[in-house]
Amino acid sequence: MKSKLSILLLGLTLSVLLAACGSNDAKEEKADTGSKTEASASEGEELYQQSCVGCHGKDLEGVSGPNLQEVGGKYDEHKIESIIKNGRGNMPKGLVNDKEAAVIAKWLSEKK
Ligand code: HEC
Repeated sequence: MKSKLSILLLGLTLSVLLAACGSNDAKEEKADTGSKTEASASEGEELYQQSCVGCHGKDLEGVSGPNLQEVGGKYDEHKIESIIKNGRGNMPKGLVNDKEAAVIAKWLSEKK
């Protein structure tokens, strides 16, 4: 009786373990797709950190350039992109290429 029970328990443990492994895989896959969508957002952030922090601050708080923490509420993605491409006032143009400008603009347009 005892040994039958332990075999049953062993079987249960195994299937729980297998199920756990299976769901871990599923989770990892989900985490992967999640990080892919994040990647485009953080790519904008990365480019920002490379080209814009000097004047706009590491947390968008503004240094010699204005605070950009709510810039997405002020301008749409398109307008931000054109500011980045063309510069404005004391902000130089051509800091990044057109593709990078679009990526940063998308990221900044979500700051509201
Ligand atoms: C040399 C300093 C400098 C750098 C580098 C710089 N900016 Fe600026 N930025 C400014 C200044 C100064 C202004 C204000 C321009 C004006 O007077 O209209 C500004 C304005 C802006 C605005 C409009 C803000 C508003 O509220 O009107 C955006 C958006 C912006 N910058 C984004 C960026 C991005 C993105 C980068 C990196 C690609 C960047 N800036 C790099 C100096 C800089």
